[in-house]
Amino acid sequence: MKLSVIPNRLVDIAFLLVLPCVNAQASLPALNGSSTCGAECQELVPLAIAYEHSAHAHYPLDDFYSIPSNFTPSMEPGTLLSVETHTNLTNYTVPSSLTMSRIMYTSMSLNGTIVPASAFVLWPYAPFEYNVGKTSKTASGKFPMVAWAHGTAGLFAACAPSNYRSLQYQFMTSYSLAIEGFAVVATDYAGLGVTTLPNGEQSHAYLAGAAGANDVAYAVEATRKAFPAQFEPEGPFVTMGHSQGGNVAWAFAERQAHTKVSGYLGTITISPPMRVIDELNAALQTIATTTIPIASLPLWVTTIIGLQPIIIAGITAVFPSYNYSGMSPIAYDRYQNVVKPLQGCLPTNSLAYADVTDFAIPGWTNDSIVQQWQDQYHVSGREFQGPLLIIAGSNDVISIDQLSSGINASCDASCDQSLEAYVYNDMEHFPVIQASRIKWMSWIKDKFTGNSKSDGSCGKMTTVQGFNTNYTIQSQAANWLVGWTNSSLGWEESL
Ligand SMILES: *[C@@H]1O[C@H](CO)[C@@H](O)[C@H](O)[C@H]1NC(C)=O
Ligand SMILES: *[C@@H]1O[C@H](CO)[C@@H](O)[C@H](O)[C@H]1NC(C)=O
Ligand SMILES: *[C@@H]1O[C@H](CO)[C@@H](O)[C@H](O)[C@H]1NC(C)=O
Ligand SMILES: *[C@@H]1O[C@H](CO)[C@@H](O)[C@H](O)[C@H]1NC(C)=O
Ligand SMILES: *[C@@H]1O[C@H](CO)[C@@H](O)[C@H](O)[C@H]1NC(C)=O
Ligand SMILES: *[C@@H]1O[C@H](CO)[C@@H](O)[C@H](O)[C@H]1NC(C)=O
Ligand SMILES: *[C@@H]1O[C@H](CO)[C@@H](O)[C@H](O)[C@H]1NC(C)=O
Ligand SMILES: *[C@@H]1O[C@H](CO)[C@@H](O)[C@H](O)[C@H]1NC(C)=O
Ligand SMILES: *[C@@H]1O[C@H](CO)[C@@H](O)[C@H](O)[C@H]1NC(C)=O
Repeated sequence: MKLSVIPNRLVDIAFLLVLPCVNAQASLPALNGSSTCGAECQELVPLAIAYEHSAHAHYPLDDFYSIPSNFTPSMEPGTLLSVETHTNLTNYTVPSSLTMSRIMYTSMSLNGTIVPASAFVLWPYAPFEYNVGKTSKTASGKFPMVAWAHGTAGLFAACAPSNYRSLQYQFMTSYSLAIEGFAVVATDYAGLGVTTLPNGEQSHAYLAGAAGANDVAYAVEATRKAFPAQFEPEGPFVTMGHSQGGNVAWAFAERQAHTKVSGYLGTITISPPMRVIDELNAALQTIATTTIPIASLPLWVTTIIGLQPIIIAGITAVFPSYNYSGMSPIAYDRYQNVVKPLQGCLPTNSLAYADVTDFAIPGWTNDSIVQQWQDQYHVSGREFQGPLLIIAGSNDVISIDQLSSGINASCDASCDQSLEAYVYNDMEHFPVIQASRIKWMSWIKDKFTGNSKSDGSCGKMTTVQGFNTNYTIQSQAANWLVGWTNSSLGWEESL
């Protein structure tokens, strides 16, 4: 069965992003170790790596990400390790009037190990004036906070969004939220940005939401410690995430049910994967039983198939003894001998597997460790603290039917909590962020002004019909093209 649709679509996108701005090197020494990286792979991977390096604020990572000598694994989680109060924005595309800080702090991994993690804080010019949760009159002038959980960036240290020129989600979320007056506190997630593992190994617990939820929670607490003049100690915040970060944000709402971060006003989750192994099995089952050409199957089927190698790497980060055993030989070779030596992020990941159709060994999802991973770390179907706003597109990479099951299971577990869902007709994974912006931006503002319009019920799902949806450009990747240019090339940006 040929699964070329996924890589090809991603290749198109990558070419769109790559060709105008970089000159690819002919080859990279690191590719020599691979026994399967043939002509296509040899040609594409350097393009991806060159694009990535051009998209990173610092390559290699700057000293900010070195673990300070005062770090010890016996620290409490939420300890502030270092603060860069004013990040030099020369190498970023951060809009004028906004500013940025970076912090390093301690988080807790799923097995209880204390790990260092990094985050950025994106500052508005002036705060959106909020009136909930104020502890005193002196709170005026303090900043309302949105704790942002990012989508898939990759598995390695270099893939930290705080090191992306555009902070990864640029105007789609981070820049827009800050322009509206919210301080955006965005963890990179443990394992990205900072790593305690040697030899380029990865420790990022990809798609195990509870790990990211810890990273978000301790980022909020550490940021309050870092900037006591800007945030109240228990000041109000909303959690928000997309894709992988939608999974993390939902896990954060579940964490709130048992381990509270004070000041919580609610969670927005956009396009969240929930029970990843079940979702993958449903996709595999669809492919096995359909006569429809793969290229015509819905995105929720085709996308997760191509994600199998990084899902397997994510499981290995949580259960090292699993040791990548679900990967097919070719996927293992590409992972170990192409992506890992290059410390490649999402673009490299897409192109390194572009000619691969056989991502995993048959039946790998039946392995008991894989099942345990899903049982312990899925989101949905657990108690949570609302209000929870769930957003997805009808052509998203998650199935709306699976989303409906997840919502029903969560409302069974926490029927007294507010949960409302909106499905944006015809929208794909990134376009839905823009399509729903009116909804989520006003939802956030309403929470900070105590102007909540929700009826408090759990599980209502509303379909939103868009205008002219057949005539918009759907894009499987983020399509706000924010270019970076250095100061001597400012003319490139003139209107
Ligand atoms: C990798 O291959 C290139 C030619 O394709 C060669 O020039 C280079 O020396 C090789 N590097 C290593 C480390 O073997
Ligand atoms: C910007 O990036 C360049 C090239 O990586 C680096 O030499 C320089 O130090 C960076 N500037 C700042 C202010 O971080
Ligand atoms: C940022 O770094 C550049 C050098 O890369 C320097 O010229 C500039 O003054 C710095 N900006 C600030 C605000 O410190
Ligand atoms: C515990 O988690 C850390 C961080 O993810 C990881 O490096 C370590 O290997 C894990 N230990 C065990 C015994 O699983
Ligand atoms: C994982 O598998 C590789 C290749 O089979 C082997 O060399 C390595 O020792 C294994 N590591 C662990 C932790 O089992
Ligand atoms: C995986 O488990 C399912 C359900 O238990 C079973 O139907 C299927 O045959 C198994 N697949 C393999 C390859 O073992
Ligand atoms: C979820 O519950 C609603 C209301 O009871 C129902 O209409 C819907 O079919 C359920 N979804 C699934 C996937 O069972
Ligand atoms: C949009 O396109 C679909 C598929 O081609 C078609 O079935 C539908 O009628 C179109 N809708 C409108 C409003 O043109
Ligand atoms: C800006 O980019 C141009 C073209 O790549 C380069 O020649 C120049 O040295 C760069 N200037 C700075 C200040 O980095």
